[in-house]
Amino acid sequence: MAESTFDVVVVGGGPGGYVCAIRAAQLGFKVACVEKRGTLGGTCLNVGCIPSKALLAASEKYEEAAHGLAKFGIKVGNVELDLPGMLAHKDKVVKDNVGGIEFLFKKNKITWLKGAGTITSGTTVEVEGVGAVTASKAIVIATGSDVTPLPGLTIDEKRVVSSTGALELPEVPKRLVVIGGGVIGLELGSVWGRLGAQVTVIEYLDRVLPTMDGEISKQAQRIFAKQGMTFKLGAKVTGANVSETGVSLSVEPAAGGAAETVEADVVLVAIGRRAYTQGLGLDAVGVALDERGRVKVGHRFETNVPGIYAIGDVIEGPMLAHKAEEDGVALAELLAGQKGHVNYDLVPGVVYTWPEVAAVGKTEEELKAAGVAYKTGKFPFTANGRARASGTTDGFVKILADATTDKVLGVHLLGPNVSEMVAELVLAMEFSASAEDIARTCHAHPTLSEATKEAALAVDGRPLHI
Ligand code: NAI
Repeated sequence: MAESTFDVVVVGGGPGGYVCAIRAAQLGFKVACVEKRGTLGGTCLNVGCIPSKALLAASEKYEEAAHGLAKFGIKVGNVELDLPGMLAHKDKVVKDNVGGIEFLFKKNKITWLKGAGTITSGTTVEVEGVGAVTASKAIVIATGSDVTPLPGLTIDEKRVVSSTGALELPEVPKRLVVIGGGVIGLELGSVWGRLGAQVTVIEYLDRVLPTMDGEISKQAQRIFAKQGMTFKLGAKVTGANVSETGVSLSVEPAAGGAAETVEADVVLVAIGRRAYTQGLGLDAVGVALDERGRVKVGHRFETNVPGIYAIGDVIEGPMLAHKAEEDGVALAELLAGQKGHVNYDLVPGVVYTWPEVAAVGKTEEELKAAGVAYKTGKFPFTANGRARASGTTDGFVKILADATTDKVLGVHLLGPNVSEMVAELVLAMEFSASAEDIARTCHAHPTLSEATKEAALAVDGRPLHI
C-alpha cells in the first residue's frame, strides 16, 4: 500500500463521514476515509434519502399524470406505470450522486480506503484488504445507523422489507402493510400507495409522526387517509406468518385486547433506526457506548478514548443527514483549532410526503411541557394565491412565538414545498428573529412563502388575507 499515515482517518463514507473528510481536507489535513460499501455516500445516497426522493418525485408525477391534470384543463390518454423505468430513474440518480462524492474526494485529495475498518487503538485503524493505517490527529467514527429489527419478524427484503427492500420491489404489492407511522413508513407508504398499493400503517402510539407538532401530525394523517392510506393506531404486531405468497400479521391493541389478523403481500418494517457500530472493535479499545448503543461523546465530539471522535447517527441526536453533515464540519474545524459548533435546537425536520411536513424549533407540546407562554399564528394555504393557482391548498403554516418577547420558538409547516420554505425560518431563528421581523420582511408575490409572512402577522392577530 502506498500510503498508511494520515492526520485524520474517518470511518464511514456517509453524509457525516464524507463531509467531515472534505472539510478536514480543506483545512489542510491529510485525510483518509474508510468505506466498505462499493460506493461512497452511505445510507443516505445509496439506500436512503436520495433513492426515496427519486421514487417520491417519480410517483408524484405518475399520480399527477393519472389523476391530477384534468383540473388544469389538460386531458391525457391512458397513463401507464413503467415500474422498471421508474426504478431505473432511481438507480441513475443514485449512481450520479455517489459518483459525485468520488469526484469530490479526488478534488480534495482524500484517500478512499475500500474495506471494513476496525479501530485497534487511539491512532490506528485496521482496514480489511488494505492493512493498518495510522491517524496522527484523529480517528472519526461516522458509521451511521441501521434498521431496528422487530422481534419475531425476519427481514428477508422480499416479503418483509426494510426501507432498502422497499426501494426496489419488483412489482407493486396489492396490500402493503407498514409497521411504524414515522418518516420512512409515511414516505415509502406514499410511494407505493400512489403506484396502486392498498397501504395500511400500523403504529404503536396513538398518533403518526410522534416527534412532530401534534396538530400537524393529526392534519397530515387526515390528508393521508383521504389519499387512501388506512391507519391502525395504538396497535402492535404480536406475531407473523410468512409464506411464499404473503404475510399474515397478528395485530393487537397496544394496551392489550383481542387480536386481529392483517394480511399483506409485503410488510415494511419502519420502526426506527439504531446506531451502527458492529465490527468496529469499540469494545476492545474501550470506547464507551450509552444505554442505546450510541457512542458517547462530549461537546467536542470526543469519546472517552483520546484520539477517537464520533459524529452523525452513531451519536446522540436526530438521525438526519444534514445534522450529521453539521457534526462533520464542526469536528473538522475543532480539530483545526477553530470554533466548530452545531445548534442542535435548530435542526429542521422534513417529511417528503405530499403535502410535505417541515418543522424547526419547539412544538406546542414541548412549550406546554416546559411551561413557556407562547402566542400562535396560523395561515392556511387555501388563502394563498400561489397555492390556489397550483391546486395545492392542503395544509398551513404555524408560527409559535414567545408571549412576552415575540421571539420565534418553533415553526411547523404542512403543505406544498414546505421542505424548501422551512429554510427561511431556520435562518430567521438562527438570528433570533421575532415574529414581527418575519411579518415586516417583504415576501415576493405570488409565492407560497407569503403564507409564512401571514402566519407571522397572525401571531399579532393581524393577517391581511384571511
Ligand atoms: P421514526 O422514528 O421516524 O418512526 C418510527 C415509528 O415507529 C414511530 O412512530 C414509532 O412510534 C413506531 N414504532 C416503534 N416501534 C413500533 C412497533 N413495535 N410497532 C408499531 N410501531 C412502532 O423511524 P423511521 O421512520 O424508521 O426512520 C428512521 C430514521 O431515519 C429516523 O430517525 C428518521 O428521522 C430518519 N429518516 C429521515 C427522513 C427524512 O428526514 N425525510 C427519511 C427517512 C428516514
